[in-house]
Amino acid sequence: MRNWHGEGIWYGADYNPEQWPEQTWAEDIDLMRRAGVNLVSVGIFSWALLEPAPGRYVFDWLDRAIDLLHDGGIGVDLATATASPPPWLAHRHPETLPRRADGTVLWPGGRQAYCPSSPVFRGHSLALVEAVARRYARHPAVVLWHVSNELGCHNVHCYCDVSAESFRGWLRERYGDLDSLNAAWGTAFWSQRYHDWAEINPPRTAPTFANPTQQLDFLRFSSDEQRAQLRAERELLNRLVPQPVTTNFMIGTGIKYLDYHSWAADVDVVANDHYLTAADPQPQVNLALAADHTRGVAGGAPWLLMEHSTSAVNWQPRNVAKTPGQMRRNSLAHVARGADGVLFFQWRASRAGAEKFHSALVPHAGPDTKVFREVCRLGADLRALAEVRGSRVDADVAILFDYEAWWGAELDSHPSVDVTYTDRLSALHAALWRAGITADVVHPSADLSRYRLVLAPTLYLVRDADAAALRRFVEGGGTAVVTYFSGIVDEHDHIRLGGYPGAFRDLLGVRVEEFFPLRDGETVHLDDGARADVWTEWLHAEGAEVLAAYTDGPLPGVPALTRHAVGAGAAWYVGTRLDDDATDRLVARLLTETGVRPPVGAPAGVEVVRRRSADRSWLFVVNHTGRPVRLAVSGVELLGGTRCDGELEVPAGEVAVVREQPAPVPATA
Ligand code: GLA
Ligand code: GLA
Repeated sequence: MRNWHGEGIWYGADYNPEQWPEQTWAEDIDLMRRAGVNLVSVGIFSWALLEPAPGRYVFDWLDRAIDLLHDGGIGVDLATATASPPPWLAHRHPETLPRRADGTVLWPGGRQAYCPSSPVFRGHSLALVEAVARRYARHPAVVLWHVSNELGCHNVHCYCDVSAESFRGWLRERYGDLDSLNAAWGTAFWSQRYHDWAEINPPRTAPTFANPTQQLDFLRFSSDEQRAQLRAERELLNRLVPQPVTTNFMIGTGIKYLDYHSWAADVDVVANDHYLTAADPQPQVNLALAADHTRGVAGGAPWLLMEHSTSAVNWQPRNVAKTPGQMRRNSLAHVARGADGVLFFQWRASRAGAEKFHSALVPHAGPDTKVFREVCRLGADLRALAEVRGSRVDADVAILFDYEAWWGAELDSHPSVDVTYTDRLSALHAALWRAGITADVVHPSADLSRYRLVLAPTLYLVRDADAAALRRFVEGGGTAVVTYFSGIVDEHDHIRLGGYPGAFRDLLGVRVEEFFPLRDGETVHLDDGARADVWTEWLHAEGAEVLAAYTDGPLPGVPALTRHAVGAGAAWYVGTRLDDDATDRLVARLLTETGVRPPVGAPAGVEVVRRRSADRSWLFVVNHTGRPVRLAVSGVELLGGTRCDGELEVPAGEVAVVREQPAPVPATA
């Protein structure tokens, strides 16, 4: 891994100088310096300008822009510029256009209109990468390379004939022979047996439910095809340039079909884009989840927030602006959770194009604005936090996350459409957030030994090795929690027979003989006072202690919540969809059992996260409430806060960061 760290925290934005007359550029640099910007992503959507005709490259304008930035002391995260092909590509090679499952062609005019499996696209894009890399490899402004942009954001699934051929190649690689594929896909069902590879297609629009394993494999293939573009560009860059390489992931903004856990090895630094959902009543909680997941993808290492927004976006139905102070809280919450860089989309709000109503660092109204003043303040804040760079986030809790389990859990023709993959993940993570506990969101194959508590929400699809790892974690003294619709199938989406939750039956000491999903809006109650909905099941405790049973609904008297002592630890099972109050109570019991505590006691709505290096630690306090709060924190204040009666007072809506003295001993040491 090449080093991507600078002197402190990176701060900046996508910078698209090509959208502006060159007279504007000098003012841009001045304002960037005023704001404390030290890194900008350049050239992301520049392909059509850099290569106006195949093989003819025009770099003079980019030379001037990058030189100007360098003169201003601003680093460049240089794009390979392959994010969106120029119109000439599809004009000359219409077969490079992607197709939907029903055959609809996706035409140029937006962005990313290319088939990810197209060898023509790959060839032209790599030629461009090579030209850009050779031109700027030794430019002193360039500190990082940015492959493409949000790979697979709009074109993740292509069903064209080129993709079909590539899918068949991928399947041959995976299965070797047709018998293995037929067995894995369960093609004895519905007369689906294949006798020739040529008979196989992507799961194109069919009269009824397509084969689920075919669907699952197509999703795996599609993620791999996008990843192949990343790998091809990175290999080329590694040969031609000395700087580190990244691309921007989209963790936590609803993007489902890219398996970032498998991509992390292909970048020198994990970078993420994150946007709030306007309709979300508590966006700071989902922001924390996205950041915790990004850190999990990064294996706990610091990461880069490559994009977020200073205020409103343009692509939601109602694009809500950020209230004063909200951008700062958002940015610093990302830093608290491991980001060593805070970048935005984009530097200057566009005058034209589909994103002209998207916020930026410099709004249409100019620098004399709330947004630009906050941008300048944030720049100063990040300078004050330079010393946290490289430190890691303390977490004693892990939540398991597997994109394949997500894909599998939400395939069609399942027991209930109300069972969605991220529902319990969000609910449990939010309960931990309310309890002041930071969790890493990690892949089931991650090393669990450093955690005390591991949660497995809706882990529908699980591999034998990963189920075994969770068992070892519990035997070794850990506490695990598994929620309903977990352990149901193997990696081929075949049911694990003998009773649910298949892979976790022995660990949990329960056996479920039948699912009893609830009707829309139906609720049930448990004898510990909990309320639940969506899901119940006919569960037998076979070794587990029953902690709560239903008092009503289809299964009165049947266990809903159990705990099984295993080795030196315990495995809890939650067989229904508890409401938030009951989830809070469950989490409180788990924290008591495991001895996991927040870094410091804090009132509701106050987020406290600890980062730690070898010999220091820092406490981030984000006050999301509308009133000042006081916490028992001592140390050196790097940011915000005032001392009151020996306590740290953090004003309403503000953020404080304290270097703790002495650094507390890690809980897991
Ligand atoms: C994504 C893209 C950017 C821009 C923003 C708008 O993150 O990478 O180019 O479109 O969304 O929010
Ligand atoms: C119909 C079909 C069966 C089966 C059932 C499922 O009756 O004939 O093959 O698909 O529906 O309910």
